[in-house]
Amino acid sequence: MRLILLGPPGAGKGTQAEFIINEFNVPHISTGDIFRKNIKEGTELGKRAKRYMDQGKLVPDSLVVEIVEDRLHEADCQNGFLLDGFPRTLIQAKELDLVLERMQVELDAVINIKVNPDMLVSRAIGRRICKNCGATYHVSNNPPQKEGVCDKCGGELYQRSDDVEETVKNRINVYVDETSPLIDYYGRRDKLVDIEGEQDITAVSQDIAAALRG
Ligand code: AP5
Ligand code: ZN
Repeated sequence: MRLILLGPPGAGKGTQAEFIINEFNVPHISTGDIFRKNIKEGTELGKRAKRYMDQGKLVPDSLVVEIVEDRLHEADCQNGFLLDGFPRTLIQAKELDLVLERMQVELDAVINIKVNPDMLVSRAIGRRICKNCGATYHVSNNPPQKEGVCDKCGGELYQRSDDVEETVKNRINVYVDETSPLIDYYGRRDKLVDIEGEQDITAVSQDIAAALRG
């Protein structure tokens, strides 16, 4: 399956990605994770991306598209993939169309996770992530068994530097201005699957699985 996960910051894209990649056996391509890895490793790309991410702004399209195209040409993406956090602008969506055309493949679905803005802020601020395996938790909605420690691997949990209230609010505004037009873009092509993201995590996963199995 060739899938896109669309939704505002904190909607649950990363959380549902963990479910979808296991259920449908596709690789997870998160542009946010790619940038965070580069920041951690101190690469030139990481240094350039960090300036934008810390302010809640989008990294310029030119930096993002090339990374995704390279990744989509890797062997594990030949039978499918899950794009999480890409595309995020109309320019990125049009570039992706061209990449897929060159690969002679088509998208199966764009999963649009819908959550209202007031809930997004508390979800993002309460998020904790495992330094070691990347698993996502929430201090009250989905806490680990032992505070600060990953259930899956025992790794230490941390809070993302862009998960502070002011930056989260900026990210939501950027989503409304630059990313939400993609809902129409994919809706017009009958690719869009709307998912009610305010339910609990398992119910959201069940709805996604049911929609994709048709
Ligand atoms: P990115 O890493 O993509 O972040 P985002 O889109 O802001 O999304 P989040 O990771 O914040 O949220 P999510 O939807 O994955 O939610 P999660 O599952 O973790 O991007 C970060 C930055 O990188 C951008 O701001 C930009 O600068 C840059 N960037 C990335 N891609 C780019 C691109 N294509 N172009 C330009 N720039 C780009 O869930 C959140 C919390 O809620 C968790 O704690 C979770 O446990 C909890 N939760 C999840 N689901 C539920 C539920 N159903 N009920 C209760 N709690 C839940
Ligand atoms: Zn872990």
